[in-house]
Amino acid sequence: MAASNFEERDYFTDPSVLLDPYGYFDEMRQRGPVVQLETRDALLVNGFKEYLEVALNTKDWSAINGLAGSGTPLPFTPEGSDISAQLEANRDKFIGHELVVCYDGKKHKDVRSLISRCFTPSRLKANETFMKEYAGQLIDQAVAKGRCELMGEISTRFVTLVIADLLGVPPEDRVIFEEQIEKGQTVGSIENADNPTAMESVYFIGGYMAKYLAERSENPGSDLMSELATATYPDGTKPEMLELVTLATFMFVAGQDTSAKLLGNVVRYICDVPGLQQEMRADRELIPWVIEEVLRLEGSTKATHRLAIRDTTIGDRPVPAGTQAMLGIAGVNRDPERWGDDANEFKLKRPRIREHLAFGRGVHTCAGAPLARAEVLTMLNVMLDKTSEIRISEQEHGKPGSRQYPFEPSFIIRGLEKLHVELDPK
Ligand code: HEM
Repeated sequence: MAASNFEERDYFTDPSVLLDPYGYFDEMRQRGPVVQLETRDALLVNGFKEYLEVALNTKDWSAINGLAGSGTPLPFTPEGSDISAQLEANRDKFIGHELVVCYDGKKHKDVRSLISRCFTPSRLKANETFMKEYAGQLIDQAVAKGRCELMGEISTRFVTLVIADLLGVPPEDRVIFEEQIEKGQTVGSIENADNPTAMESVYFIGGYMAKYLAERSENPGSDLMSELATATYPDGTKPEMLELVTLATFMFVAGQDTSAKLLGNVVRYICDVPGLQQEMRADRELIPWVIEEVLRLEGSTKATHRLAIRDTTIGDRPVPAGTQAMLGIAGVNRDPERWGDDANEFKLKRPRIREHLAFGRGVHTCAGAPLARAEVLTMLNVMLDKTSEIRISEQEHGKPGSRQYPFEPSFIIRGLEKLHVELDPK
């Protein structure tokens, strides 16, 4: 339920905050770039400079609470000025502790070395060919009807099969993953309040990944899963099979909702910002600028989280060991200290736009950022190639100036449940 008093509004559960996080972050920033949350035992880091300070300081901050979030209480009572031993003793009690996004130190570095072997230029190039063909098929179908519900008919399907192709999921199995993803719920949704980080789809997909990895370690091919199945860590040792299965599964799911929602957010802007679509049609070089500005203004991940493992500071604010911090990506990407007084506005060719924090920063910077950018760039180019105009459906979303958009009520993801558009053929 929405709280009437601002102080009592809980970032993690208040529907009004989940549906419009920007007003919340702006108002909280009036109280300072780092503030104690009223409703949770955690800090909110809401200043751009302060975000970087935490994200780049891996000596004092752990990413163990990256998935559970700082709204979840710690599974132990922190004691003293250095809780690193306590954390190690309790690591496996954190939701998501087995995922790369929650790893620290050497283990994290080792697994990132496996990931960077996967995204080679030649593999991405081959994947781009698939992206173009599949985007073409999806947009042809939508143009033939003259309309579509972009999130369900295009975005989710597209990103699911693109990552399936990249990983090397056999074509005959791809429909199984499409069905499973369609059944799944957005992570962090309050509609799934009993279990907001529900993992059923993840376990289902994991079963298939285990099968493929076992096959590829016997008979390697040129796909990403063969690379993983035969990879070694920098010190020459072989990763455990469970580690590889978890990693392949995480890569499959990490880029689902995030990329799908980004595509929806970008299409909404190119239809709603007056004149933008015409400008992009005349000059395709503008597309990457649009993608980056939408990532800044409405990137699909709203926050990430850290735990202080030693007494530390943010700026001159002392932070005791055991403090959880929510790094408010959606807030820092609109911090006027960094972006100026027009931080809340869409501005094409904003200087140094690629410094936004939509993909995080530091050792945990999103590993799939190049893929996400390529997916949206390819899809937009195909959409512009095959249409003369794309419009938001006024019947479904109302007229410009009074649009009604159904955003996911999630504390992790920023994006639309549905986006109805009309497409005129070229
Ligand atoms: C628009 C799309 C996407 C957004 C906004 C996004 C955002 C993020 C963010 C904010 C983080 C965490 C950073 C942190 O905690 O400091 C992250 C981590 C990660 N993302 Fe993405 N992501 C996107 C797409 C993808 C895709 C397509 C993939 C996979 C192929 C992917 C794979 C990963 C992985 C593996 C990590 C963990 C990295 C680590 O902990 O070292 N992401 N992403």
